[in-house]
Amino acid sequence: MTEKPVRVQWTSRMAFILAASGSAIGLGNIWKFPYIAGENGGGAFVLIYLACVAAIGVPIMMAEILLGKRGRLSPINTMLILAGEIGATPAWRYVGWLGVIAGFLILSYYSVIAGWTMAYVLKMSLGSFVGISAIAAGEVFSAFKSTPQFLLIWHTVFMAVTLWIVSLGVSGGLEKGTRFMMPALFILLLLLVGYAMNSGAFRQGFEFLFAPDFSRLGADSVLIAMGQAFFSLSLGMGAIMVYGSYLPTHVSIARSTLWIAVADTVIALLAGMAIFPIIFANQLEPTLGPGLIFQTLPVAFGQMPAGAFFGTLFFVLLFFAALSSSISLIEPAVAWLSETWKMSRFRACAIAGSLCWLAGLGTVYSFNVWGEIKWFGKTIFELVDFVTANIMLPIGGVLMALFAGWVMNRQTVEAQLPLGKGLAQRAWWILIRYIAPASVFVVFLHASGIL
Ligand code: PHE
Repeated sequence: MTEKPVRVQWTSRMAFILAASGSAIGLGNIWKFPYIAGENGGGAFVLIYLACVAAIGVPIMMAEILLGKRGRLSPINTMLILAGEIGATPAWRYVGWLGVIAGFLILSYYSVIAGWTMAYVLKMSLGSFVGISAIAAGEVFSAFKSTPQFLLIWHTVFMAVTLWIVSLGVSGGLEKGTRFMMPALFILLLLLVGYAMNSGAFRQGFEFLFAPDFSRLGADSVLIAMGQAFFSLSLGMGAIMVYGSYLPTHVSIARSTLWIAVADTVIALLAGMAIFPIIFANQLEPTLGPGLIFQTLPVAFGQMPAGAFFGTLFFVLLFFAALSSSISLIEPAVAWLSETWKMSRFRACAIAGSLCWLAGLGTVYSFNVWGEIKWFGKTIFELVDFVTANIMLPIGGVLMALFAGWVMNRQTVEAQLPLGKGLAQRAWWILIRYIAPASVFVVFLHASGIL
């Protein structure tokens, strides 16, 4: 079977790279990476994270894009027809389903946190943080997150904006904007790192982030580092697959992947280099958790000249970065609804979005009135985050790797992913068939205490 014609597609390679980087770069890099690196002891965690990005994330991203490009449909239907094409079991479509559910659950809390960034745009622009101390910034944050109405309003607004953009469709909605936002975010991060360099604790922050001390790793740290590699690269749930399904025929999957992975990693490391020096310079703890950036960055902006301006700009950009990720979290569900049920995108968005909004209430209340409700020692937010990032995404990613590596016809795969006849080609096959699946398996065994 030859490659199917494209239904809608990105206008260029650059548009794809920007959209996929838009999906990858988001709260995961700037909000989540620093706080989980802080909670898991820094350097050793970061090293494991980087190894997972290189050995598991990059090869799986190539596989995920090629599946999408070959199937040209939503992840569920792509898996179904690709399996059909080679006489494999239609049960492979459940990989798509797992992704739709994971994306849905992730978006339910992602939207709440993205709402925080919107609230901080407002606070910054009102100058609430000018000259603020770390203690006062902590108090502002606690007061904010303990008031469910605030979280609820912003969660609702963010979800509405996401759905509005997704309902406009691929070329109208998804493609515009990322072009300017990503470079601007990068420049502002550089500004923050520059500030951190003069904070007096740059060395300490830098060492915390990059000097590996394996004795600081907790029981789950390796699992969390691996989960973060999947989360940050948007892998294992079909977001990248669905973007790959809009890929023009001539675009190189391998080269695009490298760009995306490098950009994503650089942004996360820059965020860490900006935040940890601020933590140490202000005698804060790296283990502040999900509120970390909301308690540290206002201090930095509060002290720098024109800080209210730069701070506002920063949170605006972070909001856009979150938005370009959130649209990809719901796109697999929307694509499936509109494709299978012949529904308008608008309708599909309304259905998927309202369910997701409802699920987000669990996260909203877990930061305040339901804060004491815990399963396995985790609040609702923590549990949803843990299960999706550290379990569902790796399982989804490994299944895609196994499908591309073992089930699909080798010629078909190589036609989609031409890596030449040399080392790159061989390395990819070894990574996708053996190393990536085996590493995930070993990490699972380790986390469950068997290894
Ligand atoms: N990669 C996004 C981020 O880092 C989150 C995301 C995960 C988006 C999975 C899509 C799929 O913020």
